[in-house]
Amino acid sequence: MIDYGMDGKVALVTGAAGGIGRAAALAFARSGASVLVCDVSEAGGRETVALIEAAGQGKAAFQHSDVSKAEDVKAMVAAAVDTFGRLDFAFNNAGVNSITANEYDDDVWARSIGVNLTGVMMCMREESEAMLKTGGGAIVNTASMNGVVGNPAQPAYTAGKHGVVGLTRHGALRWAAAGIRVNAVCPGVIDTAMTEQATANPRARAMIESMTPMGRMGQPEEIAEAVVWLCSDAASFITGVPLLIDGGATAI
Ligand SMILES: NC(=O)c1ccc[n+]([C@@H]2O[C@H](COP(=O)([O-])OP(=O)(O)OC[C@H]3O[C@@H](n4cnc5c(N)ncnc54)[C@H](O)[C@@H]3O)[C@@H](O)[C@H]2O)c1
Repeated sequence: MIDYGMDGKVALVTGAAGGIGRAAALAFARSGASVLVCDVSEAGGRETVALIEAAGQGKAAFQHSDVSKAEDVKAMVAAAVDTFGRLDFAFNNAGVNSITANEYDDDVWARSIGVNLTGVMMCMREESEAMLKTGGGAIVNTASMNGVVGNPAQPAYTAGKHGVVGLTRHGALRWAAAGIRVNAVCPGVIDTAMTEQATANPRARAMIESMTPMGRMGQPEEIAEAVVWLCSDAASFITGVPLLIDGGATAI
């Protein structure tokens, strides 16, 4: 694990109650940043804060926030500034998957797009305003490999994640001269609560693993490391990039 020297910096992570978001919150803290842990799950979010405190690196606080609600997103960014004084890094990672009988159902579409795409837009809107007040920062959005290649089973998830890649490129161009870099991570299949249902059956898991050239699922920490690196000065000339982290799945 690399320490990127983020002492005095402040990071906000959405969807940080578990999975990729928790791993990223811990990784930011390991590099010395103060972290606002945001999620709809209070229990999981507070557990992430406790893990950071137990590790004794960085400071952390929990903020209940539903990223599909504009008022929550506004309050979330205000909380980062009120609690820690500024906002330098934002990881817009909260997301929902859907495996339903009718993926073209209006409610399935609205919920998926509301969290996965509109949520990211609203986060970027508020975060950029806060970052511009202190001369810039870095935003990383969680898309998916389904933001780069098609998925025949999930229209809303696929469209939403393609939208996140588009928003990322938009933000990179809009704020490049103002000092905010905007990138996306595009994970392949990662071992988290989101994929639990699909991988609980050992045969299904083996099939999913066989579809990845590296022959395994990714771990949340393998995404988190890239997120913190993208926010760090080590990535100072990188913006507008959808970074595939998928064990080679889309190289086929
Ligand atoms: N796991 C994978 O294989 C995979 C692959 C590609 C992309 N992703 C993306 O990675 C991100 C993180 O997923 P994960 O795999 O860690 O799953 P996860 O289910 O462990 O984490 C998602 C988190 O988001 C939170 N959340 C859901 N809706 C929210 C909302 N409206 N507001 C705030 N928080 C909300 C959940 O409570 C949860 O803590 C998601 O955007 C997901 O689409 C995951």
